[in-house]
Amino acid sequence: MKVSKYCFKCVSCGKTVDGFGQWLSYGRKCPECGKERIETFYYDYSSLKSLIYSKKSNTNTIWRYFDYLPLDNKNNIVSCGEGDINVERWKFLEKYAASLNINCEVWVYRNDENYATGTFKDAGASLAASVLKEHNIENYVVASTGNVANAFAYYMSKAGITLYAFVPENALAMNSAGVSYYGQGVFRVLGDYAKAKKVAKEFANKHNFLVTGGNTDPLRVEAKRTMVFDWLRNMPEFPTVYLQSLSGGTGPIAIEKAIRETEHLGLPCKLPRFLMVQPDGCAPMVHAWEKAKTHSFPDGWLNDYPVYDNPETKIPTLATGNPATYSIVGELTRRSGGEIFSFEESKCEDVVRAVAFETLVGTGPASAVALGGFFKALKNGMIKNGDVVMINIGEGLNRAPEFLKSLTYTEQKVVHPDECELIDRKKLQNDLWNKINLL
Ligand SMILES: Cc1ncc(COP(=O)(O)O)c(C=O)c1O
Ligand SMILES: [Zn+2]
Repeated sequence: MKVSKYCFKCVSCGKTVDGFGQWLSYGRKCPECGKERIETFYYDYSSLKSLIYSKKSNTNTIWRYFDYLPLDNKNNIVSCGEGDINVERWKFLEKYAASLNINCEVWVYRNDENYATGTFKDAGASLAASVLKEHNIENYVVASTGNVANAFAYYMSKAGITLYAFVPENALAMNSAGVSYYGQGVFRVLGDYAKAKKVAKEFANKHNFLVTGGNTDPLRVEAKRTMVFDWLRNMPEFPTVYLQSLSGGTGPIAIEKAIRETEHLGLPCKLPRFLMVQPDGCAPMVHAWEKAKTHSFPDGWLNDYPVYDNPETKIPTLATGNPATYSIVGELTRRSGGEIFSFEESKCEDVVRAVAFETLVGTGPASAVALGGFFKALKNGMIKNGDVVMINIGEGLNRAPEFLKSLTYTEQKVVHPDECELIDRKKLQNDLWNKINLL
């Protein structure tokens, strides 16, 4: 008798584990080889195609793909609109590319519109809360640079699960508040993200609580990969380039997995070139990648990366100073024909102002890194004629009130109307684009 629609497989040795319950009983280690990284497999992929294209589904959240998520009982779904978000074509970026003689389509995936907490972490949190509920887990521990903590706090609260979130010392006040006001536990660890992860793990061991598996956690990966299904459903052509700001790399890991699952069904997708952008204040994967490239990717390059303690960055949500997933993300990026490069944090405001002027969409600093990366990629020949570019807008401006404050550029201090200078919006717009030209 088939007990479930899915199983896990150890990525190292292929050993099969029957599902989440069994995985937990093994202490989340492969019973054969002891490794911790597993992937989810479904016994029957035959209805995935119709599920993607069906006009009859009553939801466009990630739960549209329930048959291909590792949850057994629909009654356990904990949901709040996650993944039911727009794929938009941003023609002003296409126009800009055309001014540089590059004809491409530019699309954005609007995770700022996720209902629960407005980031692309909502999807993974929804699935995690649902699966934990199904397995009667009462306490959960997560280490996060910020946005994951908020998303998990929301969904765990909804599921009646107690969350303990560990954030690094430099996490935004907004991030710890966003856990705390739901009445969930938050620990600001005096140290960086690597330290927060360590303390979280030790705390979880001490209390025998479950702790999230990080960037390759199958719950986060499975949920996030549904964006590939959404692109297939909503776009006339599948992206040939995927741009994302890079911290630990769950995004690219999830996309590659979904493409492996769907390619053989005859669906029109193939691995897009991954253009992964790190802020220059915390760019260990960029430095590793540049070194490897300079030496023509020598043997062992995937294990040769720097570790930065307490990275100084204005964008703590992207501050993974110890890039333990580089061996995975580096390999995927290389296989995809992509690049890992950095964007200057000091230029994020210029990007966000220009984008807001044209679209009225306010993007947070982590999204600004991806959008800035787009401009840089255009100028450095990483985007080519005929490309279909997908930019992941990972968060909106409401995620970062401090950053929002730094966006003011038309304020004048006055006491008398004679002092008030009129503004010329055409000129403002030109000035903004001149700055973009200089990136
Ligand atoms: C808004 C936003 N964008 C991008 C990232 C990077 O995600 P990852 O590198 O795990 O795919 C994060 C999280 O760390 C984020 O919060
Ligand atoms: Zn194994």
